[in-house]
Amino acid sequence: MSAENVDDAKKNSKISRRNFVVGVGAGVIVAAIAGAGAESMLKKATILPVTSTETGPTSTVTGPTTTVTGPTTTKTSTVTGPTSTVTNTVTSTVTTTPTPVVAPPTYGELMTLNVNGADYSVYADYRWTLLDVIRDKLNLGGTKRWCDNGECGSCTVLIGGKPILSCMTLAVEAQGKSILTIEGVRPPAPNAGTTLNYIQQAFVDNDGTQCGFCTPGIIMETTALLAANPHPTSQQVKDALSGNLCRCGCYPQILNSVLAAAKVGP
Ligand code: FES
Ligand code: FES
Repeated sequence: MSAENVDDAKKNSKISRRNFVVGVGAGVIVAAIAGAGAESMLKKATILPVTSTETGPTSTVTGPTTTVTGPTTTKTSTVTGPTSTVTNTVTSTVTTTPTPVVAPPTYGELMTLNVNGADYSVYADYRWTLLDVIRDKLNLGGTKRWCDNGECGSCTVLIGGKPILSCMTLAVEAQGKSILTIEGVRPPAPNAGTTLNYIQQAFVDNDGTQCGFCTPGIIMETTALLAANPHPTSQQVKDALSGNLCRCGCYPQILNSVLAAAKVGP
């Protein structure tokens, strides 16, 4: 405060000098304190670290739940492959009883054949052999068909006591003659039909037969031989049986059988 202001204050105020001085002093002190405080605060504001922690609001956003359901699709697949045709061939063999051949009348006739002492009336084709009729019409199966060509002797029968090959003889030729087959070879009464004759027994005793297929023809040949020559030599037996084959190879036993039969006799 200037001197003039002090004087004016003295004039316009009733405050004593001492109060005034005190007052001014107090003001100076206050101002000083205030200034010091402010300076101190500025210093503090400068020195103190400012720690600022800002925490923002926590926001949670929950959106609406959306469920999307698509259309249900059903797929049906149809696979069509190539068309195959399977052909099964079934071959069946049917065995039937053959129907007897009936020849036209111009090719055959009713024949009478005397076989083993009995007369048989049989319709036969002219082209049929005696072997055909004996086996297939008279059902006398003892006479065997092997080669059917006149080479083996298995079809041998006797006509009038003489051996012939029935596969090479026509049935029509045998009419009115006495025919003997293996079924007619039997011992004389009273043993006929119950036992073997002496030639058959000799073949059994000397192993003159194995499979037996050739045996009927060989016995028929031996029957004719021993009827004409009761005591043949070995060579005569071989000559007589030279047309009879044995596929079992029993020739030595066959020879022994014939010689044994000749020794025993009927
Ligand atoms: S079937 Fe007659 S000779 Fe052979
Ligand atoms: S025994 Fe067999 S073919 Fe003479």
